Amino acid sequence: MTNHDYIEVAQRIARATGLMIKERIGTSIVVQEKASRYDLVTEVDQAAERMIRELLSEIFPKHRILGEEEAFHDGVLVSDMAERIKSEEYLWIVDPIDGTNNFIHGLPGYTVSIALAHWGELIAGVVYDPTIDEMYWAEKGGGAYLNGKRIQVSTAIQLEKSIIGTGFPSNIARDRHAVIDHIGSVGPICLNIRVYGSAALQLAYVAAGKLDASWDLGLKVWDIAAGAVLISEAGGKLTDVDGSPYALSTENMLASNIGVHHDLVNHLNPKKVSSA
Ligand code: IPD
Ligand code: CA
Ligand code: CA
Repeated sequence: MTNHDYIEVAQRIARATGLMIKERIGTSIVVQEKASRYDLVTEVDQAAERMIRELLSEIFPKHRILGEEEAFHDGVLVSDMAERIKSEEYLWIVDPIDGTNNFIHGLPGYTVSIALAHWGELIAGVVYDPTIDEMYWAEKGGGAYLNGKRIQVSTAIQLEKSIIGTGFPSNIARDRHAVIDHIGSVGPICLNIRVYGSAALQLAYVAAGKLDASWDLGLKVWDIAAGAVLISEAGGKLTDVDGSPYALSTENMLASNIGVHHDLVNHLNPKKVSSA
């Protein structure tokens, strides 16, 4: 099997799962709270993850799977996840629905996100948007694509001409207030800000040059992994919001076209003057 075979399987599974999810829009869906009333999960998130696990396991019985809804299946702590990811030869990292709030409200902007790590190195990633049938994919060393066409990050170098994505996190005390402060700092300068409600989709938009950058706080590895491959293969840059290099444990991420990265790090960390 080559990386390309992996990516083809991931695309097939993402598309099938995405269509299943889309068919549930407008039907009655059981919604539950996870960590708080701002953090929701539905039976469709769980069904989508089961479907992805089953399809991947049929084709790659020896590969392990890390999915948002069932994690490692054996209760490994989120804080230990990065080390565990590095200890697996082939590990699929899955967010079955990224943008659950959009899905629940019948809004566009929910995606299926599937990445593959090899001894902790991210080697392939797929982000599928079933609403408009957009398949973003990338494999290490092979470039990034949208529906079969090569994509590249934008060439913007001025925040004044840039549209920047961000997220509105479910953790209010720690993250949402920080994003509001960030918007206070970046908002008056940039051309505009977008909050699409799917971190993976926003990473895909940066990779495709639709957004010039995107930052998001309080994420987990399954929100970022597939998009990370897209960003690096499309010529972009992914770091922590503080400018330090991206790691599997990074929760506060900044992705960009490189050109506006340095300025954004400075605006998002006003007390720190960065050389990132
Ligand atoms: C959420 C989305 C959202 C981001 C949140 C994530 P979910 O993922 O990616 O854009 O701002 O922090 O939790 O819960 O819809 O999979
Ligand atoms: Ca997510
Ligand atoms: Ca999710």
